[in-house]
Amino acid sequence: MSVTILGIESSCDDTSAAVISDGILLSNVISSQSVHEAYGGVVPELASRAHQQNIVPTVSEALRQAGLSPSDLSAIAFTRGPGLLGSLLVGTSFAKGLAVSTGVPVVDVNHLHAHVLSHFIRTDEGQEVPEFPFLCLLISGGNSQIVMVRSPFDMEIVGRTIDDAAGEAFDKCAKVMGLPYPGGPHIDRLSEHGNPHAFKFSRPHIGGLDYSFSGLKTSFLYTLRDNLREDPEFVEKNKADLAASLQATIIRILLDKLRRAVDMYGVGSVAIGGGVSANSGVRKAVSDFCDSRGLKAWIPPRPFTTDNAAMVAMAGYFKYLENDFCDLSKPPFARVEI
Ligand code: KG4
Repeated sequence: MSVTILGIESSCDDTSAAVISDGILLSNVISSQSVHEAYGGVVPELASRAHQQNIVPTVSEALRQAGLSPSDLSAIAFTRGPGLLGSLLVGTSFAKGLAVSTGVPVVDVNHLHAHVLSHFIRTDEGQEVPEFPFLCLLISGGNSQIVMVRSPFDMEIVGRTIDDAAGEAFDKCAKVMGLPYPGGPHIDRLSEHGNPHAFKFSRPHIGGLDYSFSGLKTSFLYTLRDNLREDPEFVEKNKADLAASLQATIIRILLDKLRRAVDMYGVGSVAIGGGVSANSGVRKAVSDFCDSRGLKAWIPPRPFTTDNAAMVAMAGYFKYLENDFCDLSKPPFARVEI
């Protein structure tokens, strides 16, 4: 009998629903929230209100595209955390309500596990998936971690940011350049035409496999402040070079520790995940690094990098196969480790 999972994601500012049947993706619908653009960042109260408006049409559309009705589902998987509590409550409550009304079980999913497990989403039977163990560089707006992945349920964070995430560095630096939120994709596009060696920004000197991005943010801000005193048009005239130099510095910081982790753990493959893994420079740098070391690189298709329910359905599928269901009384959690 087929195992068909509806995944629901509402941890931040994307409402998403997806259906996976026997590991094959049937639909993945994402409703993004433009309401936050005017504020330069996600406004939690507005995000939860938008989730409430989006959740019914998003789930309906995912089921429609999959050609299924709720009674065809084996289970409903939902992101339980980490994330914004008000946003998580919408997806969690909706998943539980739908489960009660259809009589199917619910599976709670850790959002960070889901990002890692996005590499197991297949769109056709013959598609290759990673072999365990592998290292995953998980980089998003809220996280920057190196994860040792031994099985779908055995993941260990071996390095993490001690302050800001890589996505935060992209977004905050973009903001001081006057770019819209989220700034990461704008920096990526501008970088294509810029010189990555035009400006030097500070890089952290911390031991082990941990990251730090707060010093880079400050160094970027001071470069702009000092140059704007001399020339009010400085940012406008140097947009592409600033973006390219910032992106190159972030990639260098990320790759330094990833290289060290590969040396320490001796894995045969490396994956990337999370919103920042959509970045063209990061994707190329990780591919080139893996090629140079004879490692297999797992670079996710762009729709599976930022928040999406396909990865939630995939993680839910793994848990379903282990009969790992969630009690309806379990609340969402804003903070949790992998
Ligand atoms: O994983 P995600 O969708 O949300 C969470 O943080 O959970 O990641 C969002 C982050 C934002 O910081 C955004 O600027 C960044 O991913 N991002 C990018 C790119 N696309 C998204 N950063 C750099 N280059 C991109 N192309």
